[in-house]
Amino acid sequence: MRIGMLTGGGDCPGLNAVIRAVVRKGEGQYGHTILGYRHGWRGVLTGESMNLSEDNVRGLLPRGGTILGTSRTNPYKTDDGGLRVLSILSRDRVDALIVIGGEDTLGVANRLFHDGVRIVGVPKTIDNDLSGTDFTFGFHTAVQIATDAIDRLHTTAESHDRVMVVEVMGRHAGWIATYAGMAGGADIILIPEEPFDIDEICDRVVHRHQRGANFSIVVTAEGAVPKEGTMELQTGDVDEFGHVRLGGIGNRLAAEIEHRTGFEARMTALGHVLRGGSPTAYDRVIATRFGIEAIDAVHEGDYGVMVALRGTEIRRIRIEEGVAQLKTVDGHLFDAASVFFG
Ligand code: F6P
Repeated sequence: MRIGMLTGGGDCPGLNAVIRAVVRKGEGQYGHTILGYRHGWRGVLTGESMNLSEDNVRGLLPRGGTILGTSRTNPYKTDDGGLRVLSILSRDRVDALIVIGGEDTLGVANRLFHDGVRIVGVPKTIDNDLSGTDFTFGFHTAVQIATDAIDRLHTTAESHDRVMVVEVMGRHAGWIATYAGMAGGADIILIPEEPFDIDEICDRVVHRHQRGANFSIVVTAEGAVPKEGTMELQTGDVDEFGHVRLGGIGNRLAAEIEHRTGFEARMTALGHVLRGGSPTAYDRVIATRFGIEAIDAVHEGDYGVMVALRGTEIRRIRIEEGVAQLKTVDGHLFDAASVFFG
């Protein structure tokens, strides 16, 4: 078989490990030919691809990013985009396509599956917000990077008697903020699921300082929002899938906290640092298992499925089930984290 593969949406550590696993088993054991499309759906639209063989995936396991490149291109946003995708896949004699991506990329994949393309999906989201899978690769790495940063910010916060606001990724769900905040001993964690009240945050900081602490660490997801009417926020550009570019909540919070409490405050936005570099051992293993399951599904002719982690098992579920719902932070988990607030 000739099997196409692409990575779409934001990059994250572990994408290369998936690519390596697909090629190693797909070519090495099954004898299939693997064609990698460049820059997500953009490469399928323009017909830009590269051959993937065991030779060019050597050494990929620990490498961050994606050797295929990625983009947030939505083929259905261009005239005849859907038809162009079908014609390029047929020109390239692609029998099946492995699509590695998040809600948007897999949403396109699902539409194409219903148009007759043989597709297998691999979930990817640094935010860990896809309902179909317990975890995705990259998330654990991001949490570790954020935790290391929070540890470092603790020592500088202590030395300067400062409030440190740490902004992490998490557009609709605050998984990274919750996990890294818990692991790093944050004094306050703000997530999109729980709109915050700036007065309450400042009270907690003041209360903590009155009880003898000389510094505080506030971890905020970039998508955290104030309760209606309590604080103004700015909005940014919108991408092809309609998402506003975030960033800025950390700065706003640090300024408000300093202004309202009189404590000196600083902000660190970890942003894309969380998506860069080498995946943790855990993420390499999930990514490898996802890649193996994806190529097995193609080999068996099981299409329209997405591989998923359920407990410790790798399963196959329908793509629509995988992307159906946003997976928000579990209330019990957040309650446990909030025991340490203030
Ligand atoms: O969707 C994953 C994500 O990392 C979000 O957490 C973040 O808001 C967004 O991507 C950033 O996108 P970009 O890399 O296109 O700026």
